[in-house]
Amino acid sequence: MRRGLHEANRRSWNAATAAHNTHKGDQARFFREGGTTLHREELELLGDLSGQHVLHLQCNSGQDTLSLARLGATVTGVDISDTAIEFARWLSAESGIPATFYRADVYDWLAVAAGLPERYDLVFSSYGAVCWLFDLKSWAAGISAVLKPSGRLVLVDFHPVWLIFDDAWVPRYPYSGFGSDNLLASEEGVGDYVAFELRERAPGQPLPGVEEFKNPHPAYEFCWGIGDLVTAILEAGLDLEQLREYPASPYTLRPGMRLIGDRWYPPPGLPAIPLLFGIRAVRPGERT
Ligand SMILES: C[S@@+](CC[C@H](N)C(=O)[O-])C[C@H]1O[C@@H](n2cnc3c(N)ncnc32)[C@H](O)[C@@H]1O
Repeated sequence: MRRGLHEANRRSWNAATAAHNTHKGDQARFFREGGTTLHREELELLGDLSGQHVLHLQCNSGQDTLSLARLGATVTGVDISDTAIEFARWLSAESGIPATFYRADVYDWLAVAAGLPERYDLVFSSYGAVCWLFDLKSWAAGISAVLKPSGRLVLVDFHPVWLIFDDAWVPRYPYSGFGSDNLLASEEGVGDYVAFELRERAPGQPLPGVEEFKNPHPAYEFCWGIGDLVTAILEAGLDLEQLREYPASPYTLRPGMRLIGDRWYPPPGLPAIPLLFGIRAVRPGERT
């Protein structure tokens, strides 16, 4: 039943991704001129990628995938959205940065990949990935199965703590890890968060691309706590090397946040809370 929800999410992401890319300007030129979409949080956890075989799960339109390739990695991106993968392939060709992209549900792709010889030095996923997964245990086990011995998982994502707040930053909802039913259904579907970010950064300025995007397809997210995630990673046989929390985010999450430098913080009056987390876990090397 929950896999059926992933199919609904595919339709919702197809519509949203098309809208998002209308706001992003000439992306091929951005990459041809040396641009990157990676942030210091993930770069610190990723380390040196030269010569590494990297699998990027939930890669959306491939911007981060190409940025990883730029660091010397051989990259494979996987995403459920047809629109995202089509765009990613186009962007790779137009920018001249090689990458391989597959359109698939991450669970199906990992199940097939486990039976193939290819193994990866690194599996990477980030910013809005975990909330789309209906089962963390099989996701983590699938990742463990495709990693080389001593291969790493690097995951940077939004911290579930911010989800206790409503749009006015009033704490209203239970922490993700405490809910008995962790399904979050949205009739509005995946929103145009790229337009929201641009409007928060430059209020009153004209918005490039589609103005008032309405997604015709609902979306279904899954609320997980940090404990759920770390437990799934440990149970999959990976060793946790780092679990970091960050008080600010490169992307705005709710109205009214404060942009200080290049990071968004909660509005004035709120105590510091973690807005992002970063995890680095390693598959143990062959033991002798
Ligand atoms: C917020 S985006 C992640 C963006 C990412 N940080 C990047 O590199 O641009 C979430 C992505 O997860 C994908 N997704 C959602 N459910 C999925 C699934 N079951 N299997 C594969 N991809 C999925 C969506 O299509 C979407 O592209």
